[in-house]
Amino acid sequence: MKFKLIYTILLFCFTALYSNAQLRKNIDFNSDWKFNLGNDSTASNENFNDAAWRTLILPHDWSIEGNFSKDHPATNQGGALPGGIGWYRKIFTLAEVDNEKKVAIEFDGVYRNSEVWINGHYLGKRPNGYISFSYDLTPYLKFGNQKNVIAVKVDNSQQPNSRWYSGSGIYRDVRLVIKPQIFFEENKTFIKTDVKDIEVSIDVYSEIKNYTNNSYTYQIKYQVFDKNGIEQFPIYNYNTSRKTQLSTKVATMDFEFIFKNLKLWNTITPHTYTLKKSLFVDGALIDEESTTFGIRSFHFDAQKGFFLNNQPLKIKGVCLHHDLGALGAAFNRSAAKRQLTILKQMGCNAIRTAHNPPAPQFLDLCDEMGFLVMDEAFDMWHKKKNKFDYSRDFKDWYKKDLEDMVLRDRNHPSVFMWSIGNEIREQFDSSAVHLTKELVDIVKRVDPTRPVTSAVTETFFEKNFIAQSNALDVLGFNYKDYDYDSLPKRFLNQKFIASETVSGLATRGVYQSPSDTNRIWPPNYKVQDTFTGNKDLTCSAYDNTYAYWGNTHEKAWLAVKKRDFIAGTFVWSGFDFLGEPVPYQWPARSAYYGIVDLAGFPKDVYYMYQTEWTTKPVLHIFPHWNWNKGDMVDVWGYYNNADEVELFLNGKSLGIRKKTADALHVMWRVPFTPGTIKAVSRKNKKTVLVKEIKTAGAPVKIELTADKKIIKSGGNDLCFITARIVDKDGNTVPDAGNLVKFSIAGNATIAATDNGYQADTVSFSSTQRTAWKGMALAIVKPGSKKGNSTLTARADGLTSGTIALKIAD
Ligand code: GAL
Repeated sequence: MKFKLIYTILLFCFTALYSNAQLRKNIDFNSDWKFNLGNDSTASNENFNDAAWRTLILPHDWSIEGNFSKDHPATNQGGALPGGIGWYRKIFTLAEVDNEKKVAIEFDGVYRNSEVWINGHYLGKRPNGYISFSYDLTPYLKFGNQKNVIAVKVDNSQQPNSRWYSGSGIYRDVRLVIKPQIFFEENKTFIKTDVKDIEVSIDVYSEIKNYTNNSYTYQIKYQVFDKNGIEQFPIYNYNTSRKTQLSTKVATMDFEFIFKNLKLWNTITPHTYTLKKSLFVDGALIDEESTTFGIRSFHFDAQKGFFLNNQPLKIKGVCLHHDLGALGAAFNRSAAKRQLTILKQMGCNAIRTAHNPPAPQFLDLCDEMGFLVMDEAFDMWHKKKNKFDYSRDFKDWYKKDLEDMVLRDRNHPSVFMWSIGNEIREQFDSSAVHLTKELVDIVKRVDPTRPVTSAVTETFFEKNFIAQSNALDVLGFNYKDYDYDSLPKRFLNQKFIASETVSGLATRGVYQSPSDTNRIWPPNYKVQDTFTGNKDLTCSAYDNTYAYWGNTHEKAWLAVKKRDFIAGTFVWSGFDFLGEPVPYQWPARSAYYGIVDLAGFPKDVYYMYQTEWTTKPVLHIFPHWNWNKGDMVDVWGYYNNADEVELFLNGKSLGIRKKTADALHVMWRVPFTPGTIKAVSRKNKKTVLVKEIKTAGAPVKIELTADKKIIKSGGNDLCFITARIVDKDGNTVPDAGNLVKFSIAGNATIAATDNGYQADTVSFSSTQRTAWKGMALAIVKPGSKKGNSTLTARADGLTSGTIALKIAD
């Protein structure tokens, strides 16, 4: 009898499982959403009429579409853009054949307080604006011609809730996943690698969920492919499959391979592999899952710092917030890739995702491009930094949010450490001892392979309760480089990283002399709300301006460079970002901290890092050469791969200068005369590089350059076009502030414009932008099909610039 019963059940189930033997479908669910800014609680109803709502494609950030105003509750610290409540709805149908499948919706990130309904059924709430989450839709779905409705409420009305610009809405990707009743559970796969000489062991942990009521015999086939899709052959101790009874709701499986001679992942040649798992139930293929991973080993040493694949490596990192400048928080892969490309060319090898988990695709880029990532969970625990911030949700959500972050990101080779928090206020009271231990435990339970840190500021052990937990693997210190030498004495046997440094302030193209006098803006906390600096709300780009808790780029880098026990640095910050416009009040609305401005144009200090962090020959001199007769101008030079630099003004030598161990730039104080300044770097008396800057004449025309030759159609691959106002000889006019009117013809639209000036209050969606110090940016979004387009930039009195853009499939 028993046998017969099982046989019958199995037969029935085979019908259910195999009747439509389609594999898992991961459907891009970004298009055709309806959106309304405003709160109508009836919008969760299935039959709600959303015909009047706007149709859009995700990712979407409604804040960036708004106008800047000092009256928005986010304040200029939050970017001076609107928040509010918004609703999204999407109607979709499912094929009859999907009736026996499991269907889930996955959100990569919604800022914030999202609530989701399917066909009027409430699925749940997620307060955290940076975490990925999903809901099982299966019990509530309709199939065939019947319509399903997803409704999402996003509530970013209670502000301020962030110390920087957050954005609002479904600002990252959404997918619909249709899978069989038995499947690999998402985010449960964990690939651990262990490198021993030429031998690499790869341990693959999987979880299989069984939503039927029955037992099956299953088999997993494992395959490893390199980047080009070529399968890697096993050397020994390798078995492609195993048979096990799948009798529980969740079956786990651990499998270890030993390979020889695989290529290691590192920051120069970031080799990645893909592990493909195929799930067979009684011989029939039922589910597949592919996971990218990389093979690398690393460790921290209390005296010698960081080692990647047994080689010492100074971490040359930057902190990045999640916004993409004029595009706001709406994630776009090509915009993130542009940021990372600019940083890579500077020699940067690491990113700290300040102060939250990034878009998953950002980590894919870091894997591919060779960046180490400090993946950070929180900017606060129970104690708030802003009235309505995540501290209100922390108690109910920290366990889940932290665990979900680690589960999601633990297969990325780029992620090399977890940060459980930035400048957490509890560091100053004893409650941190227990909580730090608990948070570290949560991380270690799901990933015992990576060190856990927290970015703290308190440099005395007796007063630092996060450190007193003794639970952290590495201590991250923000600023206070004057205390670096005391750290090993105060925090015995600890490993250290400079988790945040610098906080220099600069506006691209602004130079204030004397360049060797530092401006500490604001000078202290007492005056930070009333401080006034320059009338035009700018800061000098000579690396001579910084916030009182910070330092110059040069000094902060030297402090890390000279100490082996400090594993590396994360400069605050890689790019200017929206919000936190220290040292200014409104109308300043974006940060001055970046090595690169908000539009993606490097400030001069970018080249200091390039001389120090790369081996390619660099010579960069500044400022521009348009001054008033008689002005004393400090000319700075950053150089490497050379012994000296000589400067000439109109052919006459102004002398040779050399860097010292404590000064990473050279300087000449020059009485201004129009003409040409020329710098020559030399090694062993031979010329390495020559750089010239000429006094620019009157602005004559606009020159356009694009960051790529071919744009991929579809709308995700953006093109960044730089407009320069130049004189008749093509010299950039350094003070040109012409109003540039962009227009586009053909198969593309203008997504946004910018100029990098932190106090420009014209909305980013405007197609007109005043040039800042001779430059402006237009971001072009291609159409859905191939076809060409032409961008034109006009300005009164100037010859227009045009550029042809090729948009291909
Ligand atoms: C740090 C903080 C950062 C940012 C920075 C500005 O203390 O961790 O988020 O606020 O200061 O200088």
